[in-house]
Amino acid sequence: MVVPVASDGNERTVTVADASSKGLSVTPALRSYLLEHSLPQTEAHADLVAATREAMGDLAIMQIAEEQGPFLTWLARLLGARRAIEIGTFTGLSALCIADGLTDDGRLTCFDMNDEFVSVGRPYWERAGLADRIDVVIGPAAETLARFEPDGPVDLAFIDADKPGYRTYYELILPMLRPGGVIVFDNSLFFGEVLTDTDDDNVRAIRDLNAHVAADSRVDTVLLNVGDGLLMASKR
Ligand SMILES: C[S@@+](CC[C@H](N)C(=O)[O-])C[C@H]1O[C@@H](n2cnc3c(N)ncnc32)[C@H](O)[C@@H]1O
Repeated sequence: MVVPVASDGNERTVTVADASSKGLSVTPALRSYLLEHSLPQTEAHADLVAATREAMGDLAIMQIAEEQGPFLTWLARLLGARRAIEIGTFTGLSALCIADGLTDDGRLTCFDMNDEFVSVGRPYWERAGLADRIDVVIGPAAETLARFEPDGPVDLAFIDADKPGYRTYYELILPMLRPGGVIVFDNSLFFGEVLTDTDDDNVRAIRDLNAHVAADSRVDTVLLNVGDGLLMASKR
């Protein structure tokens, strides 16, 4: 397909069959380009990524995709978020990014069942000057979240823990959310496996959740190809 893409009016050939097939797979070079043109990350962010690789080895794959970090900061700022919730903190990169975007008096409450993981991140929250915005609740999130009473309406929630729990977390958080508040789910494409007929518990849970949220008249929903897929629901 030949399209005018240059400011000098020259036409270039790009490999796009038609508008319905637009889209790119993100190479490492393209990921760097995305990051270079997004909200700058601090040294604490980069050092936390490195520390996670060193301390966690192969488990570091659980960390959010790097381009999701600036997006979460940007979204928190866009919402003017003062109260945020995170389910699934691991070593704290997404928490660092969300806390960075909160108002100065904002608070992020993180729910995770593994304090060893979270401990890796705490020094980096401190170095970024954001530790006093972050509370951590340790335990199975279905139980700890059910007991949680925020001191006002929640603006933003990020869900990135066990996939079979997503539906429970969604139903518990939605009543806490202010109208216009947003719930973001990670791994909503599950490496593309949502399109396969596998009956893996995680994939089934993601497929069911995507269908449930998309059909839910309490929210407006968009599913975007960022990292491993972000499903986002804003409360009507
Ligand atoms: C994919 S990692 C989260 C990654 C994190 N958002 C980041 O940016 O690095 C998933 C986390 O969910 C936690 N988790 C899994 N099942 C849980 C449960 N039932 N309750 C609370 N936390 C859980 C794990 O301990 C792990 O830290």
